[in-house]
Amino acid sequence: MGTIYMDHNATTATDPRVLEAMLPYFVEMYGNPSSPYGLAQDTRDAIEWARATVARALSCGESEIIFTSGGTESDNIAIKGVALANLARRGHVITTQIEHHAVLHSCEYLRDHLGFEVTFLPVDGDGVVDPEQVEGACRDDTVLISVMYANNEVGTIEPLEEIGRIARARGIAFHSDAVQAVGKIPVDVRALGVDFLAMSAHKLYGPKGTGALYVRQGSRLHAHSHGGSHERGMRPGTENVAGIVGLAKALELAVADIEAEGARLAGLAKRLVDGIVERIPDVSLNGHPTKRIPGTANLAFHYVEGESIVLALDMEGFSVSTGSACTTDSPDPSHVLRAMGVKSNIAQGSVRFGLGRENVVEDVDRLLAVLPGIVERLRAISPLAPGGS
Ligand SMILES: Cc1ncc(COP(=O)(O)O)c(C=O)c1O
Repeated sequence: MGTIYMDHNATTATDPRVLEAMLPYFVEMYGNPSSPYGLAQDTRDAIEWARATVARALSCGESEIIFTSGGTESDNIAIKGVALANLARRGHVITTQIEHHAVLHSCEYLRDHLGFEVTFLPVDGDGVVDPEQVEGACRDDTVLISVMYANNEVGTIEPLEEIGRIARARGIAFHSDAVQAVGKIPVDVRALGVDFLAMSAHKLYGPKGTGALYVRQGSRLHAHSHGGSHERGMRPGTENVAGIVGLAKALELAVADIEAEGARLAGLAKRLVDGIVERIPDVSLNGHPTKRIPGTANLAFHYVEGESIVLALDMEGFSVSTGSACTTDSPDPSHVLRAMGVKSNIAQGSVRFGLGRENVVEDVDRLLAVLPGIVERLRAISPLAPGGS
């Protein structure tokens, strides 16, 4: 039996149709898109096809898409770019305590090295940011609000439209890390009212190392990386043509099927959560019960270490994780669960299931067949369990 992969929030396998679209750009059509001759025209055309495809998927203009090396770089370009555009007066930035480190650490950089003040807003027990708190935190010198669209650990979807209205009314730039949302739920940048929106190909069955940033026409943004004039000077460097084509193809495929696949994954996740709660006592759901990215379910198994469950499931052929792939090396409890007020002993028992395109009902049922035994075994030897050893 092969591995049953249930960690699609960490990354996804590249779809064979995406790989097929990318392959010609490695050997046959290898021209540098900036070169003047015919060989390069193909690669230039491919990038512009990709830009039009991504723009259509996000409901924006083609000139508003910048290709990058991934979600992290997109977040950095937006956050540091707004800060650099406001360097003369410095000012204030609002973000949340549950952002990905690409946003959190960028904001900390603005605070520690560029002289900005940063407010890290709390969230409620479901991981939702209160738009009223965003409004309350706004100051005359606030230059940027950055709130993620969907959280990578618990899947909670944030009220971006309301926050977008607040930002627009006050003339504050609004950035959203939508790495976990694009390709999973419909994303319309105009309706959301964002000025910047980050996405990444490898979360939606595209290649690793490619992403995009939506930059609303007329936004004030300075480059933080310097070189050639590629991507309107915001992301200098010879373009990753195959990656860019892969990103666009992956997004095109995801968007074509987004409602049906979303409903299917939400159904699978419900089967998984209901099945676990029915079979295993003392389990709680982390994240919003309904406003969640389809396919994501983060569950806390009380009295056991999530890490031990992950390892035991790995032995049974299942790939799941305790939380963000970027923080699995850290022994600290997840900053997301902490911000949601989850007690640290409960947070330690949390496991993230990220269902995706290749998962079927039988995968969930197989998991349900082995997980109760694993948790029971671990609880029997856990010093955390009531009456435990
Ligand atoms: C919410 C979020 N933002 C940003 C990133 C970083 O994206 P990338 O791996 O493309 O740099 C991730 C990936 O884990 C993510 O989940």
